[in-house]
Formats: sequence, C-alpha cells, structure tokens
Amino acid sequence: MSPEEEIKRRRTFGIISHPDAGKTTLTEKLLLFGGAIQEAGAVKSNKVKRTATSDFMEIEKQRGISVATSVMAFEYQGRQINILDTPGHQDFAEDTYRTLTAVDSAIVVIDVAKGVEAQTEKLVEVSRMRNIPLIIFINKLDREGRDAFDLLDEVEQKLGLNVTPMSWPIGMGQDFQGVYNLQDDRLLLFTEQLKQKVGEQVELNGLKDIRFADFLGQPAFEQLKEEAELIQGVYPSFDVEAYQQGKQSPVFFGSALNNFGVQDLLEGFVRIAPHPQPKMAEERIVHPNEKGFSGFVFKIHANMDPKHRDRLAFVKVVSGVFERNKPYKHVRLGKDLKFSSPTTFMASRKAIMDRAYPGDIIGLHDTGNFRIGDGLSSGESLNFKGIPSFSPEHFRFINNEDPLKSKQLAKGIDQLMDEGVAQLFILESNGRKIIGTVGALQYEVIQYRLENEYGARCSYEPYPAHKACWLTSEDERQLEEFKKLKQRFIARDKFERLVYLADSSFSLQMAIEKYDKLQFRLKSED
Ligand code: G4P
Repeated sequence: MSPEEEIKRRRTFGIISHPDAGKTTLTEKLLLFGGAIQEAGAVKSNKVKRTATSDFMEIEKQRGISVATSVMAFEYQGRQINILDTPGHQDFAEDTYRTLTAVDSAIVVIDVAKGVEAQTEKLVEVSRMRNIPLIIFINKLDREGRDAFDLLDEVEQKLGLNVTPMSWPIGMGQDFQGVYNLQDDRLLLFTEQLKQKVGEQVELNGLKDIRFADFLGQPAFEQLKEEAELIQGVYPSFDVEAYQQGKQSPVFFGSALNNFGVQDLLEGFVRIAPHPQPKMAEERIVHPNEKGFSGFVFKIHANMDPKHRDRLAFVKVVSGVFERNKPYKHVRLGKDLKFSSPTTFMASRKAIMDRAYPGDIIGLHDTGNFRIGDGLSSGESLNFKGIPSFSPEHFRFINNEDPLKSKQLAKGIDQLMDEGVAQLFILESNGRKIIGTVGALQYEVIQYRLENEYGARCSYEPYPAHKACWLTSEDERQLEEFKKLKQRFIARDKFERLVYLADSSFSLQMAIEKYDKLQFRLKSED
C-alpha cells in the first residue's frame, strides 16, 4: 500500500466526556465491534476512585492502566482506527487537553439524563479552539432522560455547536423502542430479548412505510413522524465538509452499556470522520503526504518500574513515514536520535513497529530527552503548535525535606513538569518553587513519584494564589511599575514567561482595571 493510501485509511480520534457519561463503556464497545477485544470488561476504567485520593497504590494502578490503554488501535472495514484514551478524572484534565492536540476528530459522550456537564463544556471549548470535528453520542437512552429536542438545544447553547441529528430516539427509559436512522431510513429496534445484542435492524421505505406502525405502535409512530418533520424544519441536513471543518456536529443516540446504537455510530464515524489532517507548525503548515517525516510529543509516561527510570514518549506522526533505526532530528535539542524499539499499540498490546504513517501514534523510550510539545523530523526545524497551559486551580510551595538530595529533587521536579504532571512557577523575589495543579490529587502523585523514582523527599506549604495570569505588555514602564508593586506575586513559568499569581479574584480585577496597558491571560500563549 502506498503511503498515500495508508494515510487515507487512518482515523485517529479521542472520546471525551464528563466522568460517568459512559466513555469507558463506549470505548470498550467500539473495541468489541472492531474485533480488538473478545469480551466486555477488558478495558478497565482508568478512573481513580473518588474515595481513594490518599491510596498510593490506586494512583500507581491508575498510571499503569492508563499506559496500557493510552492508545488502542484496531482495523475496521479496512480502516486503521486509533483511539486515544483520555483520563476520566478531572484532576488530569490537562492530559486530555494535550491529547486533543493529537486527534483528528473526537466523539463527545453525553448522558441523556444529565445533559451538558461542566467537564464536557471545558473539553469542547478546547476542541473548538482547534476546530476539531466532533460527533456527539447521547448515551443511556435505556434510562429516563431529557427530551431530545431540549437536549440538542442545550448542546447548541452551552457548547456553541451547530448540531444535526443522524438518528432519533423513539421513547426512552421504560418506553425506549429504539432509534430511527434518519440518514439511511433504518429502524433499529431495542427489544427486550435483544438487549445484549446489537439490536434488530429493519430497513424501511421512508416514513410512509406502513410497517412502522406494526413495529412501534400507532402513537409512537405518529410522534416519530411529527418529530421527523420538525427535525427537517429545524436542523440543517448533514454536510460532511461542514463537519470536517468543525462547523457542524452530527448527533447519534444509543446506549453503550446495551451495545445499542454503537455499531451505527462506528459505521457513521468510519464513513465521515477525517483522515489525518495538516498541522500548524510555527514555521508553516505541514501536510500528511509530505515526503519528510515529522511528528510531535503529546504525552510522556513514566515507566511503571522504578528501577528503570526511562519513560515512554508518545509521538503523533504528522507527515512522511517514520522508520525504525533511522536518525531523526530532535528539533529543540538540535541533535539526531535513533530509535531501535519504537512501539505501536494494537489493541492495548505493545509491539515493536518498523514503520508508522501520519495519524499513527508511536511510543519512544526516553531517558529524559523529551518534553511535551517536542518535535522530531527528517531534518527540518518544525515546532508544532500545542495547546496553551491553563491557569492551575491549586498552588503550593514545594520544600526539600532532605538537604542531601537537592539535586535529585530538582531533577525530579524538572522531569515531572516535562511530563506535564503539573506546572512549576519560580518566584522572582526569592527563587522559591511553587507547584500549580488542576486538582489536589497531583500533589500526592508528585510526592510519591519524587520519592520512589528520584529518591527525593518533599513537603508542601500553602501558597495563597487564586489564579496564574500570564503577563504581557508593550508598555515597559507600566509593566515595571506593576512588577515592583506586586513583587511577592510575580513568578516565571518553566519557559521563563512572566506570570502574576493573583491572590484573589478581587485583586486580579483591580489590577486589570488599573493597569490598562497590561494583558492578563488565564492561559499561556499557544
Ligand atoms: P466514564 O468512563 O465516562 O466515566 O463512564 P463509564 O463508562 O465508566 O460509565 C459510568 C457508569 O454508567 C457505569 O456504571 C456504566 O455501566 C454506566 N453506563 C454506561 N453506559 C450506559 C448505558 O447506556 N446505560 C446505562 N443504564 N448505564 C450506562 P457504574 O455503575 O458506575 O459502573 P459499573 O459498576 O457498571 O462499572
């Protein structure tokens, strides 16, 4: 197969949702349909149980599981499908944002009863920043939930998406009868005895087909007819180009737990989802079918075995063909590296791979050369644009508890920050280190890993910051004045960018009003 054909048959995507909407269940069902796993239960939820915040083994397990299921590749209808897993726990949301730099599309799972939840909003916002094509799967139709029209209104309003239903539910909960595929005029019946199967498919001849009433009963059929008319009047018809540009989101309905509507979703996905797309680098746009290889690191995972401190860097191939044992340029370090055992992830099994094409994810063993966002190429200096860092929610001073191990501590902190576990800020006034995180759980992960992997002990002290604001200004004088006034709250991030650690929303507001020539950003530049 030519590289061109290889590119065309790849679909690399992620599944995003608020915890508990059914992401893990859906992933598993997709793998079942794809023949990548044989039985349910093979994909473990990578959630850290909410009660186990102080259980280190749980954290370790979480890390182990997420390595195993980080990328799940399988073949379906001649396509190479790569599912990139995203952590379910919201304390690891930054991991998910970064994974979104490596997908060409995403499926958003929404619980029919809960509708659009906080985490969904945040993740969709990040996806929209990158125009990632989104398919929406409304899940748990076997339960009582919200009216489908209301739900789609909410999706449009809260998520800012233009939706178009591909299928439509007939009843829900106790009265759930199935879904009508509006595109193919197919009725997918949800019958009691078939609950654990795919469902019975009935091909119909449009809504005029009299057999409809036999299957659904007259009242449900009448309602479906009415709703179908309404859908036609309210929503635009599906436009594959608009979808692929991230301007329209097709919606499917189903129940992942019951395998219901999942095959429709997968088939729809395979038909419409984009193959690997061009990617913006600072220098230029890079196209998948270019000859030269290029790729970037979007995730780094520490080795589970503390005796081997090597890590696995996950690289998304952007262009060309990656080959084992060939030297490639590490763009930031400006040196050539060769990889003798790059891994691929077929169905959560790791195997050595010889070649990888755009859209593929390769795992490279790393002894500390990589950080998130690093580029690799056949020689050209390409710096791919990533996702900005968002202001952390928690801030703590980190202290060294063992003066003899200060080097180890510094190295540990440095490497953990390269992995993107948390963000480091160094106060300008006294050089003290502050760790900023999205969730409190990361502090335990960091402490545990520093001790186990680097032999360094640390403790924390509260630092009363509310938000981190990246500061820029054309007006040097005002900037200097502000820095002087807020001396105790001025820091640099890992890339030496200036940050104001506002101690309250009030002082931030005051600063914004008073210093009108400064830009205060709650996220770093791309
Ligand atoms: P997540 O990864 O998005 O966090 O969600 P996950 O798949 O773990 O699903 C969350 C809960 O919702 C699970 O129940 C799961 O069985 C259930 N679920 C998923 N899809 C459906 C569906 O279509 N219908 C119904 N009724 N439930 C669904 P749990 O009790 O929390 O966990 P478990 O003990 O079943 O694993």
